[in-house]
Amino acid sequence: MKIGIIGAMREEITPLLEIFGKYEEFSLGGNRFYCISYKDSQIFIAYSKIGKVHSALTASSMILHFGCEKIIFSGVAGGLRSDLKVGDLMIATKLCQHDVDITAFGHPLGFIPESKVYVETDAELNDIARTVAKKHDTLLKEGIIASGDQFIASGQKKQWLIENFSADAVEMEGASVAVVCDLLNVPFCIFRSISDSADGEADVSFDEFLDSSARVSANFVKNMVDTLLNIGK
Ligand code: ADE
Repeated sequence: MKIGIIGAMREEITPLLEIFGKYEEFSLGGNRFYCISYKDSQIFIAYSKIGKVHSALTASSMILHFGCEKIIFSGVAGGLRSDLKVGDLMIATKLCQHDVDITAFGHPLGFIPESKVYVETDAELNDIARTVAKKHDTLLKEGIIASGDQFIASGQKKQWLIENFSADAVEMEGASVAVVCDLLNVPFCIFRSISDSADGEADVSFDEFLDSSARVSANFVKNMVDTLLNIGK
């Protein structure tokens, strides 16, 4: 099996490269893809750079060039719910693009004609994630993730995301990876560990907790990959 693991920032994939060890490197589209031979399978790891365009390109390259059959996103997010604290791990049930706005033409916020506001993540991968969480005694929270090309650092914008999208967490890449995988029929799941609360202190919190929260997500993704590769054996 070929599995693609995407992070947005170098810090989000560094723990994964440390965990998996030896890799081969390939360059494509401004990304470096780290290819690991693991348990008769291949794992491709890359960080896309921040934002929806970059992550869409990386997901497309993983699928169309490297032939990845499943995509896992690992990284950090801003928590919008009061029970989502720094270091908590969540999996996205569905994702939306909060910065899509063609309401001037009567469309709902976040809607693009011939597309949909929310893209659901893969039910089977999410079930596997729940099993992995139980096995490793990890609290895995679930929720809606809103993605946009903005770092959210205000209570007002946070409230807007909750009211308009029922969002539980916010980041800048998940929904674009979701759209690419959905359109190309590749199962995907999105893990995010909370680095901040998307409020007035979000920038300071993000800088402080990026590494540790990225590690929480990466450690879980390693267990997820092990479980995925053991299924059917
Ligand atoms: N990723 C982590 N925290 C974030 C925030 N507050 N806004 C957007 N993306 C994030």
